[in-house]
Amino acid sequence: MRQYRIASIPADGIGPEVIGAGLEVLDALAARDGGFSLAVDHYDWGSDYYRKHGVLMPADGLERLKGADAIYFGAVGAPDIPDHVTLWGLRLPICQGFDQYANVRPTRILPGVTSPLRDAGPEDLDWLIVRENSEGEYAGHGGRAHRGLPEEVATEVAIFTRVGVERIMRFAFDCARKRPRKLLTVVTKSNAQRHGMVFWDEIAALVAADYPDVTWDKELVDAMTMRMVRKPQTIDTVVATNLHADILSDLAAALAGSLGVAPTGNVDPQRRYPSMFEPIHGSAFDITGKGIANPVASFWTASMMLEHLGEARAAAALMTAVEQVCAAGILTPDLGGKATTKEVTRAMCEAIRGIN
Ligand code: NAI
Ligand code: MG
Repeated sequence: MRQYRIASIPADGIGPEVIGAGLEVLDALAARDGGFSLAVDHYDWGSDYYRKHGVLMPADGLERLKGADAIYFGAVGAPDIPDHVTLWGLRLPICQGFDQYANVRPTRILPGVTSPLRDAGPEDLDWLIVRENSEGEYAGHGGRAHRGLPEEVATEVAIFTRVGVERIMRFAFDCARKRPRKLLTVVTKSNAQRHGMVFWDEIAALVAADYPDVTWDKELVDAMTMRMVRKPQTIDTVVATNLHADILSDLAAALAGSLGVAPTGNVDPQRRYPSMFEPIHGSAFDITGKGIANPVASFWTASMMLEHLGEARAAAALMTAVEQVCAAGILTPDLGGKATTKEVTRAMCEAIRGIN
């Protein structure tokens, strides 16, 4: 029996609702598969922990997560605590501390889900967005001087390193190579940003030479938003900087029908540290506690986690179940349905038991 240690950090808002649903489905999946089992360590870190202890996770937090095979994360953020405090207090220290430099975001239109794009169906939109996750615009480099004075100044410096750009390009070309179309779009802004982004383009071209079997093109980020809406069929794998991909992937999620279905993995491709899997949505204060959070993003995320652990068969079975449940119209209100989180979860567990 293959055994995996999962660190579960549901954190805030709807995080505990969707991660609870995801763990239930993972249990059903492990029971059906019979070949692996999951030992889950539960961590109560997040905004409640902050209110009690003044920090979002204990000082030895990373040390405690280190032994996990993967981290299953909900969302962090509370109305009464500034977002930069929650984000930099929990999620980013894990991403950066474990050098999870590739943020992987698959997007497609699930059966039964309607895209806001008129005429777009599942065959028109099937993307994999790779986001640089360790530097760029979110490197945290910068500062403020003369606080509160008329001459106050703030800088937020984007950092691009040869190591950082080359490794994300290689990872993206590898991802593109594994997909049937072998097609990669490198998103850039080198017309306006002539240092970091020109460097980004140069390294893309260098790495591309090692992947003659992958077709690649370059697109300016503003033009990319139009292409995503107008010609979604021309896109397959995408690589973009931390900021650009952050924005593009929210657009991607909306075009696929809802933020509530979009998953992500924060991956250390070299597997020196545990990778972290999470829905891309946040804590969604407006629906917290109502029992209607869409758990599909956390299911899809769980499937990515299983894939990463090497359980490809179970990962595929999970996605088959997601597709069956969506196609059957068992959808939460964000997708125009009437089902609750619990009803979707129950339908998933039944679907999993029915897959052979
Ligand atoms: P959000 O993703 O929490 O919500 C945006 C909208 O989408 C809301 O109307 C919400 O109800 C809806 N939504 C999101 N997930 C849903 C789901 N699973 N099912 C149904 N509807 C869903 O983004 P927002 O409002 O910008 O941020 C709220 C808090 O979450 C903030 O504190 C923010 O910093 C934090 N946040 C945390 C993230 C993380 O931990 N990775 C990511 C994004 C935001
Ligand atoms: Mg975002």
